[in-house]
Amino acid sequence: MHTIDIELVEMTLDVMKYAIDRISNVTPDLGSPKKEEELLRIVGETITPEGIGGENAFQLFRDVLVKATVPIDHPRHLAFVPAAPTRAAIMFDLVTSASSIHGAYWMEGAGGIFCENQAMKWLVSLTGLPEGAFGVFTSGGTAANLSALVTARQEWREQHPGNDHTRALLITSTGAHSSIKSMAKVMDADVHLVNSEDEFLSGDQLRSALRELSESDRNRVFAVVATGGTTNAGIIDDLRGIAGVCENEKIWFHVDCAYGGGALAAKSVRHLFNGIEKADSITIDPHKWLFSPYDCGAVIYKDLELARKAHSQKGAYLEIFKDEGAQGFNPADYQIQLTRRLRGMPLWFSLAMHGTNKYRKAIERGIKLAKIAADKVKEKENLELIRPASLSVVLFKRKGWTFEDYRDWTYKNHNSGFALVTPSLWKGESVIRFCFINPDTTKGDIDAILDTLD
Ligand SMILES: Cc1ncc(COP(=O)(O)O)c(C=O)c1O
Repeated sequence: MHTIDIELVEMTLDVMKYAIDRISNVTPDLGSPKKEEELLRIVGETITPEGIGGENAFQLFRDVLVKATVPIDHPRHLAFVPAAPTRAAIMFDLVTSASSIHGAYWMEGAGGIFCENQAMKWLVSLTGLPEGAFGVFTSGGTAANLSALVTARQEWREQHPGNDHTRALLITSTGAHSSIKSMAKVMDADVHLVNSEDEFLSGDQLRSALRELSESDRNRVFAVVATGGTTNAGIIDDLRGIAGVCENEKIWFHVDCAYGGGALAAKSVRHLFNGIEKADSITIDPHKWLFSPYDCGAVIYKDLELARKAHSQKGAYLEIFKDEGAQGFNPADYQIQLTRRLRGMPLWFSLAMHGTNKYRKAIERGIKLAKIAADKVKEKENLELIRPASLSVVLFKRKGWTFEDYRDWTYKNHNSGFALVTPSLWKGESVIRFCFINPDTTKGDIDAILDTLD
């Protein structure tokens, strides 16, 4: 499979040409999905005993299949949490694959793990966590949240030896991301949701919620999860207040900044995160607002050793690390995966190339675009701003529209290849949600989207 032949060289050239064309194209076509039967009808079965040939398979991808996908970095893709990986990061993602490095242990991955750790050092510095805090890159926010919560529960059990078989309970708010509930299910833990209509959890609300628990439930609480930028509205919980309660009550304090974490680098909003420096663990997704290609999340711990106790895997074949050069940071010890891609390498290269100031500027641009959009919404008679822009999210209504109107508008814009903007809910009512990540989105893009609401 590894012999160099003509076909391989041609395929490599095709792939490199495609990659160069794609990263130079700042407005790629906004594709939309087709039914699976239709895709199969067009491309036919692609896995055959003899293979269909690299040129052919690549052509099918380039001419048909990729057109049934949405480029997440399109400047008018403002749905969900978009992304806008830098060109440097994308190119280095190719290098990461081509280098074939195992990212679990220093013994095999030292040079690559060094790169990741350089990038991690910067992330940790943004949090203000004390000396000794450190983290590791994961496949995304869900895996980072799970890794942190497993560590939290393990520590809770260490501190309360009678609880080895007690079902653990975590507290979070209704504004928290769905992955928190999902990962609690994976852990077979319970979730107590503090109802916060405004997607904002305060220290006082948390204190009351704890007071209202029965004694046996209070004894099961192993963690509080606050959100540093709700996915729906960009709202940051009262991290300082929550940190105070967690400190008094001796509860693990996790902050999920999967979406908002990039804004820790933005001076204009950094103060909103005050209190994060008291966290026991933090999730940040570089594949959201730190311009990394999918997939790249990060989990950071105040006390890395607690993560090692929870995650370090033991196995007869894993006991070899005796050589001095093999003594180093082992990413597998601090999160749920063993074999892992060096996901932090594209971020490292891009940070090393551009410097952190450019990152700060690009993140401020997302915040500015949200403010610009909110101002434009306010100027339009037929629109109603629901709340001030928060981080890079804007929520607003088209007066008189029902959910069906929002849905039809979304599909019309998507199917015509113009924009992808999806509706959401705010206090039970349908709204339009803009989430800005791509610094290349322009005022003209915002105007053009708002004009489709006339
Ligand atoms: C606040 C928050 N937490 C967690 C996640 C899950 O992250 P991922 O999709 O990278 O697993 C998201 C995703 O949007 C998020 O916004």
